[in-house]
Amino acid sequence: MHPLQVNPTTGEPYLRLPSPHSNIIVTPPRMSDVDASVRELNDRKVVDWLIGPPYPYLPSHAEEWVATAKQASDAILADLQRDEPNKARSPLKFVGGCPVHRLREVGEDGTDTFVGDISFRRCAFPHEGEEQSVRCEENAARAVGDPSIVWCVGYYTASSHHGRGIMSAAFRTLMTEWAIPRMNVRIMRVETYRENVASARVFEKFGFVQERVADDVVTTNTGAVWHGVRLLWWRHP
Ligand SMILES: CC(C)(COP(=O)(O)OP(=O)(O)OC[C@H]1O[C@@H](n2cnc3c(N)ncnc32)[C@H](O)[C@@H]1OP(=O)(O)O)[C@@H](O)C(=O)NCCC(=O)NCCS
Repeated sequence: MHPLQVNPTTGEPYLRLPSPHSNIIVTPPRMSDVDASVRELNDRKVVDWLIGPPYPYLPSHAEEWVATAKQASDAILADLQRDEPNKARSPLKFVGGCPVHRLREVGEDGTDTFVGDISFRRCAFPHEGEEQSVRCEENAARAVGDPSIVWCVGYYTASSHHGRGIMSAAFRTLMTEWAIPRMNVRIMRVETYRENVASARVFEKFGFVQERVADDVVTTNTGAVWHGVRLLWWRHP
């Protein structure tokens, strides 16, 4: 399970962000996340910037997403636990994803509040014209741990928590604590709308370099229209 910690009361694994954000933990999804997901993914300050989620985002959407995400997280955790007896003798094995991706702010009374999500997935090469489907298929076919897999990430923080440095810290923590050592992530390609300065900064601060701005016009499910998509790449130094 390294480097995950485990809550002694609930048995839930988690990562904690470093100071000054040590009141934020990153855990697996929980079925109780449905209400918070519905709240956050109907907030135009969040969802206007995302291409994926349906809008309006209904409880049924959240239930399906959380159930699928929980299943994926449980499968990775089960895979990790199967190897536990051999851990002292063999190097840590690579897994195909990150089982903790829900950001939660822990209050003084120990209860926590959902404040965001950060999910890694294999890149599907949007904005690459005719090459997209071939590159996507090749990337999907690579074996777990293959350093040539091109990864991407989707993330958001609750608008009540924007601009506090949380995503910068969370992205850095998940990259260095999990994605690089436990998934063997070596190459990433991400997209942000040209106007999304905050998201581009999170990536640039970690060493991503802008390759180009695709001049596609994107309309999100909220009806927001964006002109231009930045493509940024990162390679493990
Ligand atoms: C993008 C997002 C995840 C950033 O999360 P965050 O926790 O607010 O990010 P941080 O506080 O770590 O800020 C990151 C950088 O962006 C800057 N920033 C934050 N909000 C900004 C804004 N509205 N305009 C310009 N810069 C901004 C910060 O100053 C910081 O840069 P710095 O360290 O050089 O000062 C958050 O704004 C969000 O959820 N947006 C909606 C969803 C979204 O855009 N997802 C990404 C799609 S690609």
